[in-house]
Amino acid sequence: VIPPADLLAAFRAVRARTVALAAPLSPEDQQVQSMAEASPTKWHLAHSTWFFETFVLKPAESAHRPFHAGFDYLFNSYYEAVGPRHERARRGLLSRPSLEIVMAYRKNVDARVERLLEQGSLSAERLTTLELGLHHEQQHQELILTDAKHALGENPLLPAYLESRHEHAAPSRMEWTSAKEEIIEIGHDGRGFAFDNEAPRHRVVVPACEMASRLVTCAEYLEFMSEGGYSRPDAWLSDGWDEIRAEGRQAPLYWTLHDGAWSVFTLAGERLLDPHEPACHLSFFEADAYARWAGARLPTEQEWERAARELPIAGNFAEDARLHPTSPRESAGLTQMFGDCWEWTSSAYRPYPGYRPPAGALGEYNGKFMSGQMVLRGGSCLTPRSHVRATYRNYFPPGARWQCTALRLARDP
Ligand SMILES: [Fe+2]
Repeated sequence: VIPPADLLAAFRAVRARTVALAAPLSPEDQQVQSMAEASPTKWHLAHSTWFFETFVLKPAESAHRPFHAGFDYLFNSYYEAVGPRHERARRGLLSRPSLEIVMAYRKNVDARVERLLEQGSLSAERLTTLELGLHHEQQHQELILTDAKHALGENPLLPAYLESRHEHAAPSRMEWTSAKEEIIEIGHDGRGFAFDNEAPRHRVVVPACEMASRLVTCAEYLEFMSEGGYSRPDAWLSDGWDEIRAEGRQAPLYWTLHDGAWSVFTLAGERLLDPHEPACHLSFFEADAYARWAGARLPTEQEWERAARELPIAGNFAEDARLHPTSPRESAGLTQMFGDCWEWTSSAYRPYPGYRPPAGALGEYNGKFMSGQMVLRGGSCLTPRSHVRATYRNYFPPGARWQCTALRLARDP
């Protein structure tokens, strides 16, 4: 457990960062819900606050009174053990409470949490939950950006969240790095914070494989498209083929063809597609189809973790304020393992051997989602740097594209 003084500093930093991320968005921006999977910024600001109020303040305060009796219903995301909740797809309809009241809610809960930390009156169990709340809030920081991007991208004016800092991406050669078959330990070793789904650490046989030194670029993905990638069923998993036909998909999300040239919508507005930057906002199905077309495959999450565990957590993260993936600097070995884009793996999101969700409502955090989703690794340009680890398992349904998701090729030797 982190000492309470360090936790207090971390709490203040994470909470302030969330507010700073929302600041470029107007109150009207923060109200919009562009699709069922995305939430309004205002809801993220309130829900991440509700998490601390419900799981830290409620059990710790002797004379606990909620900030507002209705907020349990409005801002509980999915915790059945806490009680009934507002339907996710209807979060954008909540014009009340106003953004002003949500910000007052944040301030109120911040002050109450800080008081308990300063008094040193939180139990070890509550301190652990508080730390979980900080990592939870970092997940919502990334969602604020992905959801705002989706909402702004639905506006025909294609407004920008930030000023462009785009420099043309440099071309970089793709090399193959190889690894031998071996038995290794996968999962979190218990030092420092990890989510429950990263444990138990366990032994696995990882086969010999080769992995690409960088992410697939837009130029490479365009080749797949120009060779009829979206119109040849042999490249696609059946569910993926059905999905691109049902949705009329012809390109990654946010790509638009204007007079024969592809443009891409970014958080800095729309601009011409840069061929050397990573192809991003791909579904698992698109990543998988590209890999099959290229005569390769996606890495398993074990192969990815084996390759990442010795590498420093360095790359293009949210703190770098580009908020868009870029090409790697020329360097030997694997690049872009951390930051830039989440990497789809071929691994289904399932429990590790011996996994038990924690008791109580927080057991619902990760465990109950272990079906129908695929594992992504490595973090993105929208992820806070301190949030990610080599053992980190992100997960999304295979058709999801609004996260910053891309692919790295792997192949059998
Ligand atoms: Fe949440």
